[in-house]
Amino acid sequence: MEKPTPETAALPVEPLWYKDAIIYQLHVRSFYDSNADGVGDFRGLVQKLDYIQELGATALWLLPFYPSPLRDDGYDIADYTNVNPAYGTLDDFKTFLTEAHRRKLRVITELVLNHTSDQHSWFREARRSQNDPRRHWYVWSDTDEEYRDARIIFTDTEMSNWAWDPVSKQYYWHRFFSHQPDLNYDNSEVREAVWEVMKFWLEMGVDGFRLDAVPYLVEREGTNCENLPETHAVLQFLRQRLDEHYPDRMFLAEANQWPSDVLAYFSNGDECHMAFHFPLMPRIFMAVKLEDRKPIVEIQEHTPAIPDACQWAIFLRNHDELTLEMVTDEERDYMYDAYTTDPAMRLNVGIRRRLAPLLDGDRKRIELMNGLLMSLPGTPIIYYGDEIGMGDNIFLGDRNGVRTPMQWTGGWTAGFSRSDPERLYSPPVSNELYNPKIVNVDSQSRSEHSLLAWTKRLIRTRKLSRVFSRGKMEFLSPANHRVLAYVRTLGNETVLVVNNLASCAQAVELDLRRFKGAIPTEMSGGSVFPRIGELPYLLTVGSYQFYWFRLRRL
Ligand code: BGC
Repeated sequence: MEKPTPETAALPVEPLWYKDAIIYQLHVRSFYDSNADGVGDFRGLVQKLDYIQELGATALWLLPFYPSPLRDDGYDIADYTNVNPAYGTLDDFKTFLTEAHRRKLRVITELVLNHTSDQHSWFREARRSQNDPRRHWYVWSDTDEEYRDARIIFTDTEMSNWAWDPVSKQYYWHRFFSHQPDLNYDNSEVREAVWEVMKFWLEMGVDGFRLDAVPYLVEREGTNCENLPETHAVLQFLRQRLDEHYPDRMFLAEANQWPSDVLAYFSNGDECHMAFHFPLMPRIFMAVKLEDRKPIVEIQEHTPAIPDACQWAIFLRNHDELTLEMVTDEERDYMYDAYTTDPAMRLNVGIRRRLAPLLDGDRKRIELMNGLLMSLPGTPIIYYGDEIGMGDNIFLGDRNGVRTPMQWTGGWTAGFSRSDPERLYSPPVSNELYNPKIVNVDSQSRSEHSLLAWTKRLIRTRKLSRVFSRGKMEFLSPANHRVLAYVRTLGNETVLVVNNLASCAQAVELDLRRFKGAIPTEMSGGSVFPRIGELPYLLTVGSYQFYWFRLRRL
């Protein structure tokens, strides 16, 4: 392995940085192409770091950028300690890291622990023969009958979690695509090897890892092979090593599970620092469609408290389908009815669409959803392009329709590349509503009223107070169910959030007696509202409108 150089100096030690972060998720391949070959690269990304900083993000999460046959867009890693030549070199990565840190942007990379590509040298060696010393780095069996209680995740492609290896004449275990064999975490050599990979990037200065697909690390007969105690033990082993050597770095667990099961990934604060809140996301969409706060309130009430140093990661959309695994069958039917007008919009157990098209391009609903993202408990993650309302292309296959080139300008290549448009790794979105002429950074940068400008202001407002990132939340229960109101508190600071989930104006009476005497100040513009008294506090909220009020006692 190449020795990392020290010039990618880390940012000052700040152990809880992830709690106050605003994370911007992007794919190097899709962001900006510096050498006109039609594929985004690290040098291109460096040129766009100012944009991300100006947006107000404080951390980047990069999709996998390692050498890979790209049969799962890089989640099939063929070499953990290098950069895919299409995206640049290790030196380019180091320059990127230095430049990101210079702008006080932390960098979170992907660590796909559960499986490798079948092209990884580990697997190529393992399948050479049943006696190969590498054999037990993966999970093998003479039959495809074991672990039958484990569900299939990629239901549209895979029939079984076992695949036959004609070379060594046994079945190997895979939870995702059959070209992604699962590593065998019962083998201590594997655990050590994964720690070596982590060390490689940590030494270079990477600030955190998104731990892909963590519930599935270990298999046991008679279980569904998810969230097993042995899996938690692996994560705790890695965390212990991390804390010993790199105390301010972060683990973000991708565990698409119910909150009560995700809780175990925080353990006593000695496993993962963060975990995605998967079940919240579809319920935000549900609440807005139903014009009723119930789905959000219910899931939050079923979300247990987490250790002090831990934090939820919350999001509206990401690079995958909008997953409907963590909803009931009835709720799933509702979501499909409400949000897929064409069967091509469905994929596996979810919906492959971006935020703006899901909301019919309705600026008011886009703002409301972002308002929720920025005010509910957790660290918000913005998926690249959603800040300008980018569209999708459901006809591109798999999840590629939400991974199209970032739209910088109205040109043929969306300003993503100087190559001919035909050469791009993916065509830009070209439909009438979302093509680059209609939706691009350049034009939105010229207007104070664009979605981009609005999003910047929203982020700036969120950063006015740590109450959003660290405060407690308590729901109010006004009679009007179309209004979702909550109070965020941290120390002496209180913020009241009022969201109208309905398409028409609503009046709401809030019981704010315990804040009697306080004066609400609307945070985006500083307007002062009437002092809170004994009587119910009456507000009118326009269609899909929301308010954030600071409550000050004068
Ligand atoms: C990632 C997916 C990927 C899968 C297999 C995940 O959950 O988010 O994009 O296909 O893991 O690695």
